[in-house]
Amino acid sequence: MAYYEHPQDVTTLPAWQALTRHREAMQSFSMRDAFSSDSQRFDTFSLSSCGLFLDYSKNLMTAETRDLLMQLARECGLQDAIEAMYAGEHLNASENRPALHTALRRPIGDKVLVDGEDVMPEVQQVLNKMTALVGSVHDGLWRGYTEKPITDVVNIGIGGSFLGPQLVSEALLPFAQRGVRCHYLANIDGSSFHELSAKLRAETTLFIVSSKSFSTLETLKNAQAARRWYLAQGGTEAELYRHFIAVSSNKPAAMAFGIREDNIFPMWDWVGGRYSLWSAIGLPIAMTIGMSNFKELLSGAYSMDKHFQTALFEENMPVLMAMLGIWYGNFWDAQSQAILPYDHYLRNITKHLQQLDMESNGKRVMQNGQPVNCDTGPVIWGGVGCNGQHAYHQLLHQGTQMIPADFIVPVVSYNPVEDHHQWLYANCLSQSQALMLGKCRNEAEAELRKQGLSEDQVQYLAPHKMIPGNRPSNTLVLERISPRRLGALVALYEHKVFTQSVIWGINAFDQWGVELGKELGKGVYSRLTGAEASTAEDQSTQGLIEFFRARHRG
Ligand code: F6P
Repeated sequence: MAYYEHPQDVTTLPAWQALTRHREAMQSFSMRDAFSSDSQRFDTFSLSSCGLFLDYSKNLMTAETRDLLMQLARECGLQDAIEAMYAGEHLNASENRPALHTALRRPIGDKVLVDGEDVMPEVQQVLNKMTALVGSVHDGLWRGYTEKPITDVVNIGIGGSFLGPQLVSEALLPFAQRGVRCHYLANIDGSSFHELSAKLRAETTLFIVSSKSFSTLETLKNAQAARRWYLAQGGTEAELYRHFIAVSSNKPAAMAFGIREDNIFPMWDWVGGRYSLWSAIGLPIAMTIGMSNFKELLSGAYSMDKHFQTALFEENMPVLMAMLGIWYGNFWDAQSQAILPYDHYLRNITKHLQQLDMESNGKRVMQNGQPVNCDTGPVIWGGVGCNGQHAYHQLLHQGTQMIPADFIVPVVSYNPVEDHHQWLYANCLSQSQALMLGKCRNEAEAELRKQGLSEDQVQYLAPHKMIPGNRPSNTLVLERISPRRLGALVALYEHKVFTQSVIWGINAFDQWGVELGKELGKGVYSRLTGAEASTAEDQSTQGLIEFFRARHRG
């Protein structure tokens, strides 16, 4: 029987027990001391792969910690799990399907069987279809209803049909091609439609309705609004095909909406929404950077796939990052993980990784339906540096919780302005340094005395100035952002998330938790709009419904 159908309770494994004991022994471990007593620490705990450099030396770990974590990964059957994922086994057991986003970045000529059928020819066909579309838009051959070329592309989609494409297309703006602007319409809030449509002209706008299921409320409502707007601006039903295309695995629904069959790009049920930017869901990326750069993105991700599959766990970037996450979440009680990109172009990466991680690993039962005996996915949060330093870093430095942080920074900027990039890079490094070093009581007191304060003032202020330090972080350095390196970076986190799911024995590829809210939303909507007179199941919801109805009555 496949390992994922009967995962083991990880907390009973020998390596878990050993880690529990090791955690106690590490209680007084000091990173400061570890660095001063070992001049090789940086070399020992850092590695390069796929154009990324990972420094993980600022962690609460020794070589023994790493050995035990890797032993745990082995006891959980991680290598088998990786092979099973790449081979298309039904790892997404609750939906009885494989998770094969890795197939989307494999080279031409490779074979990937899904239930006995090679999916690679169709993957290639879709890439060719994308190439034709992107080429014709970029070359001005795709015309709107007044025969003018397309100037603006609007991606209508939410969740994975939004966050990944938005991250990548905006991160790779230095690679943007010939003047097609991409916009994103995700939320059902009419204000987002209003603000965006005010900037557009229907005759030169192409809408991509991007929805794997083609049943997502927000996307369908926005697509209908876009269609009404297009008609109101002078577009006709007959010319609709020039302005609306779709990416979906639900072709009948897309056609019922009015999208012409040959304007529908297929998606497959073996690609999860949050893993789909590599498919035709990535069309806005390709529209922004062109197909050859899009293919570079795929090859970057492929290089990380190979690294994940073949590197020894001790030298395996996704495995190391995943196991450090397990170390802090399960043995040090860390509840959240900060993602801190120090780069304007990467400013959306936290939002994408938030969905990737929290929708994948926000689970409470194992694949076999039994409860997990330990904490699973952390809260992922953060944002671009230096901005965060002037907002929430205070809590990272002096709050009561330990929050491991990932810093991500390129060495070279696309837009050097005097010494701004040197300052940006310096701030990134000084933040991880401050988290690690902290400021002890003696240092705080000495600093205050130097300012000439009275001893009473020194004693009063010292606890406020003290910073505990010893707070862990990773630093990921890229030479500069490129399609290839960004592909590797995003794939790195995909594999990190997958590795953790294997350790916990959970399914990283379903998302049943989001369904209840959607179902209840229909009932609340009917009550709000008066179509259904019955009361809500609880007083709170009923009271809030009445509040709305009272304001909108008559
Ligand atoms: O509701 C959650 C979710 O299903 C995500 O998993 C997905 O990325 C998003 O909604 C959008 O789904 P679709 O592409 O089917 O519109």
